[in-house]
Amino acid sequence: MASGHVADIGLRFDPLDPEQTDHRYALWADAREHHPVFYRPKSDVWFVTRYQDVEAVLKDVHSFSKCDDFAPAQPWPEEVQRVLDHGYSWDYFLSNNDPPIHTPLKRVVSKAISRRQTTAIAERVQDIASELIDDFVQDGIAELGEQLAWPFPALVALEIVGFPREDMDLLKRWGDEWVLLFSDAPVETEVMVRAAEQFVAFQNYVLEHLRDRERNPRDDLLSHLIRELHDAPDIDLPLEDIVNIPINVMTAGHVTGTLLLLEEISELLRHPELMSEVRRNPEKIPALVEEALRFEPPVHGTFVRAIADVEVAGVRIPKNASVLLSYGSANHDPGQFRCPEAFDVYRTDVKHHLGFGKGTHFCPGAPLARLEQRVALELLLERCPNLRAVDDRPAERMQHFWLRGYQALWVQWDVGDAPGQ
Ligand code: HEM
Repeated sequence: MASGHVADIGLRFDPLDPEQTDHRYALWADAREHHPVFYRPKSDVWFVTRYQDVEAVLKDVHSFSKCDDFAPAQPWPEEVQRVLDHGYSWDYFLSNNDPPIHTPLKRVVSKAISRRQTTAIAERVQDIASELIDDFVQDGIAELGEQLAWPFPALVALEIVGFPREDMDLLKRWGDEWVLLFSDAPVETEVMVRAAEQFVAFQNYVLEHLRDRERNPRDDLLSHLIRELHDAPDIDLPLEDIVNIPINVMTAGHVTGTLLLLEEISELLRHPELMSEVRRNPEKIPALVEEALRFEPPVHGTFVRAIADVEVAGVRIPKNASVLLSYGSANHDPGQFRCPEAFDVYRTDVKHHLGFGKGTHFCPGAPLARLEQRVALELLLERCPNLRAVDDRPAERMQHFWLRGYQALWVQWDVGDAPGQ
């Protein structure tokens, strides 16, 4: 709980207000200048908005912990907790752990989706994107969220983890239900109970696949986890304790890619001169991806828990407080980035962006994510000439506490005169 005066911005700020979502960076600029650390009583969360403070908190392992990262926005009703108690331990997620437990889990997951593996699957990534584009390229119009940006990273993640492609819709439903469990908006208990049941079903599904891989190992993340965390002499976690790791990889490695791809495309639609330049010089695409990660990071912030009374930017944060480190705001901090409000694929300071986080929890899927984004953009620009927005279907942003991106993005293009059409 906050003590003393609550700054006006903490009372005004509402991540679920569509108008504020559209003008989020003006609000962050105001916060950075006047209240770089502010408290929002409605959600009982402290926000940290300046780059150097976000970085300092990420490094301060004595005052902050990720262990409670999955704390619900409101405490779960008893009925929900009862359902979740029928599932398996939450102790071995990567995202809500600190060293020393986090260290071997991270090493194993990073190895499984490492650069070498990523190079090995580059061809598959290309094929998956190509097949999805084949399905709509002759139509001249598409909703890119549903037709490309959503299924593409999902199919890649399914292959890497080792789940069958046919289960994509099932996994989408489970992913959506999972988000409901942590919603900041009011959710009826009945709906939450169903979400909890679905989550337990997801855990049981993963356990079944782990048991299968124990008998029939393959070259996938599930088999790798068994080898390194279950069968290894120094770590022998029961399979039940491993179930949340593939869930963590699927949820962390999927919607993030969807949102980033839609941001990149919408930036290109807004800047036709940039679109022409990137078409002429596809080698600029990696720079575009990095700048999109800075300019509109899909993971707009991350939660940490204060484990001691601590001062950040002169503001006292009490022990046990929930703290949201705003990657979105930090990425627009003029103290760190030159002309931060300009989308500039030539900027030289982009490598400091927090689009993949920083430090202990830095995204282990970053090389794979960069590959996916490059491949999808290259193919889309090559196969969909004169790509443009659909005037009567403007893109709308979703409202979310810590994710940022579009719900849908309609585009059209000329059919008939591009290679591969
Ligand atoms: C454009 C796509 C992606 C973006 C923007 C992204 C972003 C991030 C960010 C910001 C974090 C750190 C969160 C924090 O600081 O608490 C993170 C962690 C993570 N990401 Fe990604 N990610 C992407 C793709 C992927 C992919 C493709 C995978 C795997 C297939 C993946 C797996 C993970 C995992 C397992 C973590 C947790 C790491 C830990 O807690 O140590 N991500 N991601």
